[in-house]
Amino acid sequence: MPVISFANPKGGAGKTTSALLLAGELAAKGARVAIIDADPERWISQWAKLPGKPANLDIFADVTEDTIVDHIETAAAKAQFVIVDLEGTASLMVANAIGMSDLVLIPTQGASMDAKGAAKTIKLIRNQERMARRSIPHSILLTRTSAAIASRALRNVREQLDKAGIDVLSTSIVERAAFRDLFDFGGLLADLSSDQVSNIEKARENARAFAGEVIAKLKAGGVTAKVA
Ligand SMILES: Nc1ncnc2c1ncn2[C@@H]1O[C@H](COP(=O)(O)OP(=O)(O)O)[C@@H](O)[C@H]1O
Ligand SMILES: [Mg+2]
Repeated sequence: MPVISFANPKGGAGKTTSALLLAGELAAKGARVAIIDADPERWISQWAKLPGKPANLDIFADVTEDTIVDHIETAAAKAQFVIVDLEGTASLMVANAIGMSDLVLIPTQGASMDAKGAAKTIKLIRNQERMARRSIPHSILLTRTSAAIASRALRNVREQLDKAGIDVLSTSIVERAAFRDLFDFGGLLADLSSDQVSNIEKARENARAFAGEVIAKLKAGGVTAKVA
């Protein structure tokens, strides 16, 4: 049912990583999840070829500007959650996906605060809102934040966004080796062992908090999805 898109024209903002983390958490709870892999690098499709992809997580990869709306609609009819990993441009495909979304997350690197990319995405969302005559819930997701330092710069970023009336998730995605390793080892965070990966428990906690906040946001917006 709910469609959650990850958008930011800036490459390396953490779209693909956070999309897979959310999908993995929801799938681990037993939900039927579909990922629309619209990233031309196809990282998630490659991840799916490694061992450990849960059976209740489906990946759809042959997506174009013309077919993305059909793909999202078909996936939403079957899956409890549809997660769309978008390309790093502000294309018609991205606009179409945004138009179909119940929630748009805008991963933004906390340290560098790529404000330009985030602002572009918000502009795209506002246009889609006007065209569809409905509001499209959206939030900034700060990514690749430091585990060690709760920096003043990051607090400033949050304050500025807050002043501008832009929602920011209170959970940020911390820079963790485990989140990179997922793409090398395959499977979910639950499958990685502490011998292979450092700080795995912290990484799991982070992903769990992120998914919990997304579910709460969907519920608050009146979008219901049953999760075990
Ligand atoms: N939270 C994180 N911790 C560690 N590495 C990360 C994290 N987020 C992203 N990366 C790494 O940064 C690079 C870009 O991230 P990615 O998720 O592919 O961004 P995007 O999809 O926005 O281009 C990848 O090499 C990825 O492994
Ligand atoms: Mg990507």
